[in-house]
Amino acid sequence: MKISAKEIIDIRKPRLRYPVIKPIADRFSPRHFSSEKIPEKDLNSIFEAARLAPSGHNYQPWYFYWTENNSSSFKKIVSCLPQSNYWAKTAAVFIIACYLPVVEGERNPYALYDLGASVMSLVLQAQHLEYYARQIGNCDTEKLRKLFNLNKDHQPFVVIAFGKLGNYKNIEEVYLQKDIQSHPKKTQIAKKIT
Ligand SMILES: Cc1cc2nc3c(=O)[nH]c(=O)nc-3n(C[C@H](O)[C@H](O)[C@H](O)COP(=O)(O)O)c2cc1C
Repeated sequence: MKISAKEIIDIRKPRLRYPVIKPIADRFSPRHFSSEKIPEKDLNSIFEAARLAPSGHNYQPWYFYWTENNSSSFKKIVSCLPQSNYWAKTAAVFIIACYLPVVEGERNPYALYDLGASVMSLVLQAQHLEYYARQIGNCDTEKLRKLFNLNKDHQPFVVIAFGKLGNYKNIEEVYLQKDIQSHPKKTQIAKKIT
């Protein structure tokens, strides 16, 4: 089965019950990317959005390492993924998103939460520029740490695969079948308390 980019966007776009800003309405996590190089100015904007995120005590406990498709580092990151995440091979860029669990010798209980906020800021800025992202938690983070000799204070948590949406006429069937499934969201997530 072959489908166009427009069709996958229509299938995966969240069904809105109420209006939200465009990057939220458009965002979904695809398994097929264009490997086309991302202009530096766009990458700069994307990391700028991550930099501006809120954090407990303004500690900003995050750090990002990134690499482009076809580099030796890109291949090393692929070697840290289980086969189930090999769809990521077409991404234009991989970002290793790290949190800093310790600040001034003390454990920072907000660090992981803050990394999530920073990543979401990054993802929405990317979406605003019409790039898509899919986060990967299922990877060998200890291997990542060793391969790149990461700063000992930086704990890798997810790899973010991103780039323009791929040409879905070339996606492997196994990933297409996953991507065309609906990704329903919970309908009841907030309740007014009195
Ligand atoms: C922390 C985290 C870890 C994830 N790990 C993986 C992963 O290892 N492999 C994968 O294909 N998707 C992974 N995802 C993507 C989620 O499966 C995806 O966001 C979810 O199905 C909702 O779909 P949506 O982002 O299109 O709304 C991860 C997402 C997050 C936030």
